Amino acid sequence: MSIETVRVDLGARSYDVRIGQGLLDRAGAEITALAGQRRVAILTDETVAARHLAGLQESLARAGIEAPALALPAGEATKSWSRLGDAVEWLLARRIERKDLVIALGGGVIGDLAGFAAAILRRGVRFVQIPTTLLAQVDSSVGGKTGINSPHGKNLIGAFHQPALVLADIDVLTTLSPRDFRAGYGEVAKYGLLGDEDFFEWLEANAAGLASDAGLRQHAVRHSVAMKAGIVQRDETEQGERALLNLGHTFGHALESATGYSDRLLHGEGVAIGCALAFELSARLGLCSQEAPSRVAAHLAAMGLPSRIADIPGDLPDDEALIGLMGQDKKVQDGRLRFVLARGIGQAFVTDAVPPEALRAVLAQSRA
Ligand code: GLY
Repeated sequence: MSIETVRVDLGARSYDVRIGQGLLDRAGAEITALAGQRRVAILTDETVAARHLAGLQESLARAGIEAPALALPAGEATKSWSRLGDAVEWLLARRIERKDLVIALGGGVIGDLAGFAAAILRRGVRFVQIPTTLLAQVDSSVGGKTGINSPHGKNLIGAFHQPALVLADIDVLTTLSPRDFRAGYGEVAKYGLLGDEDFFEWLEANAAGLASDAGLRQHAVRHSVAMKAGIVQRDETEQGERALLNLGHTFGHALESATGYSDRLLHGEGVAIGCALAFELSARLGLCSQEAPSRVAAHLAAMGLPSRIADIPGDLPDDEALIGLMGQDKKVQDGRLRFVLARGIGQAFVTDAVPPEALRAVLAQSRA
């Protein structure tokens, strides 16, 4: 299967997302034109380093690029001020300059942290995303959102900083645990739900084969990236349409925060529950048919994803506390919660007109 390219067209900040098999092994050849004689440094995590770092460094070495690496602990807790400081100081100690290249090798945590480190180092250094999870390939590596978490909430500290290149090797996804693959799939389903009913229908028919069939996987990743690129091109800094990419995230981020960003609930699982809740809320408000939330929940369940708050193991804060956590969402404007709701599958929109009673009723129903 050939490698496909999706161009993210942002004028001087344009870049290619290369999608296909064997890209990690080709990384040196892919990066060499960007790197030239410049220094290259890799930020990764310990789990990804054990699997993929040697292969990447060998590929870079074949292209004459020597690239030292810093492996941070794996997990959401790494998106912190202290790990960001470690990464920035390490890059400075390696004398990484503005035109040098930082490579983010890993999932969303590493991509977000490395991208933010690159954004603030010397007021902006170029970086390449090599996403190693499904979530990072279809969402977080594309579009230039970078950042870290605060005890006040997820991704509250950050910057827009577009990568110079994204290499999405779909073979790497076969090394993920089934749970991590499924969680990333929550973000793939999101694209169909927010803006493309035909893609959702394709996923209903084909998604069960994604983990094992490279052709299906490449199609799903390429289509998701193309949808994201289109949205980012029209609204790079989220003044409007880009907020649709947060379908399921207002609920999802609150649930992630309520579970302490732990293994109890992975980000993509929170998004899956959040998408189901967004459709439940939409149906309750008469915006979409009753069939739509049932179809969403049925597909998530078929893919082994949670779709209800009750699916989260352990105790959770009460509804008022959850609504309080939603109040830290970046979509909040003038203190009003804003939700991505839907008029049907593939027809999402943003609104702040959600009566609190309807929100409470949907939360209560999802806990039962
Ligand atoms: N992950 C949402 C966005 O990039 O806008």
